[in-house]
Amino acid sequence: MHFDLLIHGASEVVTCTGAGSAEQMLAPVPRGCVGIKDGRVAFIGAEPPGSATRELDARGGFVGPGFVDCHTHVVFAGDRSDEFELRCQGRTYLEIAAAGGGIARSVNATRAASEETLLRLALPRLERLLRHGVTTAEVKSGYGLDLESELRMLRVIRALGDAQPVRLVGTVLALHAVPPEFKADRAGWVRLVIDELLPRVAAEGLARFNDVFVEQTAFTHDEARAALEAGARLGLRPRLHVDQMTANGGAELAASLGAATADHLEQISPAGIAALAASNTVAVLAPTSTLFARARPFAPGRALRDAGVRVALCTNCNPGSSHSENVFLSMGLACVENGLTPAEAYLGFTRFGADALLEPTLGRLQPGAPADLVVFGAESYRALPYHFAMNDVAHVIKGGALVF
Ligand code: NIG
Repeated sequence: MHFDLLIHGASEVVTCTGAGSAEQMLAPVPRGCVGIKDGRVAFIGAEPPGSATRELDARGGFVGPGFVDCHTHVVFAGDRSDEFELRCQGRTYLEIAAAGGGIARSVNATRAASEETLLRLALPRLERLLRHGVTTAEVKSGYGLDLESELRMLRVIRALGDAQPVRLVGTVLALHAVPPEFKADRAGWVRLVIDELLPRVAAEGLARFNDVFVEQTAFTHDEARAALEAGARLGLRPRLHVDQMTANGGAELAASLGAATADHLEQISPAGIAALAASNTVAVLAPTSTLFARARPFAPGRALRDAGVRVALCTNCNPGSSHSENVFLSMGLACVENGLTPAEAYLGFTRFGADALLEPTLGRLQPGAPADLVVFGAESYRALPYHFAMNDVAHVIKGGALVF
């Protein structure tokens, strides 16, 4: 066989295709080579059966699947560094939101920005994610909060997907906060989303997921259920921001709706953990936002894993609660604060991240899978959370092409 690209010289190829414990799931191939043809993985093993047009020496580093960042808000305008300063002085995320800051600030700035500006502002964020090994990212709307601004955000997300190497998956998050125009008629906004926005999003193919923020400052169970069930009838898969700042039984809601994911979960209850364990819903933890928003406690990652829940990790890159593209900070915190093992943290940005986006061919390396790979400077995945918040990515390959 003749490969387009052959990667050799790796300490190991971590395939993330195994079964059993987290460590067994990593299923590494020692001193493995990866042969790539037509943008797909064609071979993994110690003895490549053929030559290649191009070769890449991993120089003793390990090779793994491209990271999947399954929860981001990288399309936004404006700056909320003053809110960060207020939190450092002791004000809480919810207090700042209740006083007119928070998501509403980003909505004002995002509505005022042109499509070109939103695109220009998001590109370097995606470039930073790519340099951290991310080859697929989910991106949400939710800073438009009127019909045209939400659609505009989703069109920007689509355009961004064509403008740079990271593959993007769009999510409509119209129930992120109550728009200022609907403060006295929140039911009116939910109705508009159900009757007009979601059908247009589905008709234009602008999103795969439909997301709702369930929180004191955002939406209730009933509002979330109505919008998510309406979206599901249009083919938009439900997911939810829940149990983040306050315990709200949101994990149970996510499980009862068959949601793809339940995200955040700092305040999840034992009943919520049991509900997720009995469902197919993936738990998505965002430890950088727990840290950055000073919203203790950290989510009980250990208890979720012990109950058998798949736990994905994300950067949750956004201007308010997690102004960071640092995958390795998230992995390190997941070990130190959420109680995950390094193997579980690595799975959180590979296989489980892909599962969160309903992408079973991503986050794993096996013949036939898209050739999305990362070559690290480090010899082992264990170095990633341990070399705390440091970036050991040497090369990123997307669809068989060397993109970093
Ligand atoms: O995922 N929780 C709600 N949404 C974002 C924060 C958005 C913001 O503050 O701008 C999150 O943390």
